[in-house]
Amino acid sequence: MVYAKPERRSWAEPFKIKVVEPLKTTSPQQRQQAIREAGYNTFLLRSDDVYIDLLTDSGTNAMSDYQWAGMMLGDEAYAGSKNFYYLEANMRRFYGYRYLVPTHQGRGAEHIISQLLIKSGDCVPGNMYFTTTREHQERAGGSFVDVIIDEAHDPESLHPFKGNVDLQKLADLINKVGAKKIPYICVAATVNMAGGQPISMENLRAVRKLAEQHGIRVILDATRAVENAYFIKLREQGYAGKSVAEILKELCSYTDGATMSGKKDLLVNIGGFLALNDEKLYDEARNMVVVFEGLHTYGGLAGRDMEAMARGMEEMVNEDYLRARIGQVEYLGSKLLDWEIPIVEPIGGHAVFLNAKKILEHIPQEQYPAQALAAEIYLDSGVRTMERGIVSAGRDAATGDQHRPSLELVRVTIPRRVYTQAHMDVTAESILAVYENRKKVRGLKMTYEPKYLRFFQARFEKIPASSRPEHPAGARLETEPR
Ligand code: F0G
Repeated sequence: MVYAKPERRSWAEPFKIKVVEPLKTTSPQQRQQAIREAGYNTFLLRSDDVYIDLLTDSGTNAMSDYQWAGMMLGDEAYAGSKNFYYLEANMRRFYGYRYLVPTHQGRGAEHIISQLLIKSGDCVPGNMYFTTTREHQERAGGSFVDVIIDEAHDPESLHPFKGNVDLQKLADLINKVGAKKIPYICVAATVNMAGGQPISMENLRAVRKLAEQHGIRVILDATRAVENAYFIKLREQGYAGKSVAEILKELCSYTDGATMSGKKDLLVNIGGFLALNDEKLYDEARNMVVVFEGLHTYGGLAGRDMEAMARGMEEMVNEDYLRARIGQVEYLGSKLLDWEIPIVEPIGGHAVFLNAKKILEHIPQEQYPAQALAAEIYLDSGVRTMERGIVSAGRDAATGDQHRPSLELVRVTIPRRVYTQAHMDVTAESILAVYENRKKVRGLKMTYEPKYLRFFQARFEKIPASSRPEHPAGARLETEPR
């Protein structure tokens, strides 16, 4: 027998497994019942009914022995916990901002910054919306304006930095509404809804310059900024020789502050923060956090959670880890590409995004193709994914009309350090099985629509094989007025 030599040497996860959590398989009948009871919304499944959970990379990370050891060093003081000071010191060391306000998770920080800076009638430009971020901006009286480059809305564009801001769109907005109506520019790294796509250093530097000329702040959504920094190292000229830690700090240096969901890059299960450079703004944020989250030295977190985040910061910039992390997402995505299954390209940092619009081209967007595809993958194998399309996009706050995003995607999200390549193989094969039977998949009808962030709790029914949609989506829903 002749063995084919591999073209290049393999890489492996830079860790070994010390504690295991058993996985449970389910029968097709059990899954049929579970998804029906969940109203065809994977967010409403019980995790006990899930085999491989690729719903999100948020709070689903496996902590290291170093982090778990730190959990035992939690200083559970109401005020002035030593873990807070360690977290503050590490935030300064890795992100470079001056002031830290801990929050229970990312949206806690989004709430505070939105309430502090946005006035009624303001515009907040950003490189594509994120669900919770936009919700907080709108609740504060602002409206979100998308200024991402057009390539980001095209799943097939191979632009290496699809997270970039379109500087012309930003300049046009400033000219149109005036800088006074723009409290800050909200820049995400990487861009979740675009498919985990990075922004380049060059682009952020240019955003900074334009913002500075008009006296507008730049606030970074640093949730997955480390993964963004890794892409910069791989793809941007002049950065191959720099460490990810250096790149991260440079990224942050072009911004005035950051909101952070620690549940992603920081390799923990809960936590977040708001980071700021402006002392006056920090003072206001520190005062506000006591009303909504807790004292400014814990912000809704236990001491041990802050310790785990601080230690996670030390691990997140390890480049062997990042290579395996991004490499695992790429491994899954490449398999699907080999089988010619349409996904968003380039493959993103935290997830592979299936192009449901193309896979289920017989299902109109009003019948929620991505929602239907996520349900179908669960039915096939118990693998849980999530919708990132028209359901996630929600409704226009002013008109109540559904947003109709050009991206209609299913996100297959990879938790950090949790699953092995074998789990990726099983996932890829399940997606292939659904893909091969795609013509049989039917659309959905929404039967319950919550008022805020509807994708989390909306319920659906399968549209019977013979029927056409009776009324456009949105009509006759069990919904409360906005
Ligand atoms: N910003 C981005 C880019 C996010 O992806 C998230 C959360 C948040 C802010 C809010 O942070 O959940 O800690 O309050 N994303 C999760 C996800 C929910 O599944 O993508 P949070």
